[in-house]
Order: sequence, then structure tokens, then C-alpha cells
Amino acid sequence: MSKTVFVLNGPNLNMLGKREPGIYGAATLKDVENDCIAAGRELGFTVDFRQSNHEGVLIDWMHEANEKAVGVAINAGAYTHTSIALHDAIKAISVPVIELHISNVHAREEFRHHSMIAPAVKGVICGFGTASYILALHALKSITA
Ligand code: DQA
Repeated sequence: MSKTVFVLNGPNLNMLGKREPGIYGAATLKDVENDCIAAGRELGFTVDFRQSNHEGVLIDWMHEANEKAVGVAINAGAYTHTSIALHDAIKAISVPVIELHISNVHAREEFRHHSMIAPAVKGVICGFGTASYILALHALKSITA
């Protein structure tokens, strides 16, 4: 029986492929979704892959994950750096959450160096391009055995 994991994407990630390709690469979010579904299958996960530009929707999905999933991987986009509400939502649920980023946020502008959600998550993966998503699924596998 495969276990469900949520892979959540925050603002502007629907623009992947068109958005600053020098930083985020050429793959679209649909490509990333397909890769996550395939990798998830190998790992025994059913991947529920979603994107929203709205903070409250991401929070609702965190709460939903607590009922339906064994873990969450999230690229919270810029909400990473601003959202106390997302931090609180992660703290409010009992399933593990992995924070991920396509780019190495620590090698970029100062305002990207701080994550509001990092203290609430199990661990952080960043800087490996869209492979960060696959690495996050492996991380979830290793902690949800
Ligand atoms: C990002 C990094 C964030 O700083 C930025 O706001 C994003 C994408 C990444 O995947 O590298 O939207 O989370």
C-alpha cells in the first residue's frame, strides 16, 4: 500500500520554466510534478502535487495533509521568508515537513537568507535545482519508514 505525501508549491512557482530560467532552470512545474510522481512511485509514495499563490490556501493544505498524508515537502517560495502563519501551521500538524528550494537561497540576496519556516520543519534542502524536490522525497522516505 503506497502512502500519500503532499508536495506543495507557493507563489510564482506556476511560472517555472518562464521565470528567471538562469536561476530556476527550464523545467516547468508540470515537468517537476511528473518527476515527483515517478520518483514517488519508486519510493512507495502517492504524490499529491499542488501549487497556490495564496498563503491561506497553503495553510489549509498543511492542515489537510495532517489528515491525509504521511509527510509534506514544501517549496514555499517567497512565503518562506515572510510567513509566520505558515510556520504556525507546520507547528500545528504532526506529520513531518521538509522545506525545499530550487536555488541556493544562502548564495542570493540577504533577504532570502532567513527562513520563517525553517525552525518548524524537519530539515531543509536547497540549491540542487529541481532535483531538490526528488531529494526531499528521499528525505521523507528516510523519516517515514
Ligand atoms: C525559491 C527561493 C525563494 O527565495 C523564492 O522567493 C522563490 C523560489 C526556490 O525554489 O529557490 O520563489 O523558494
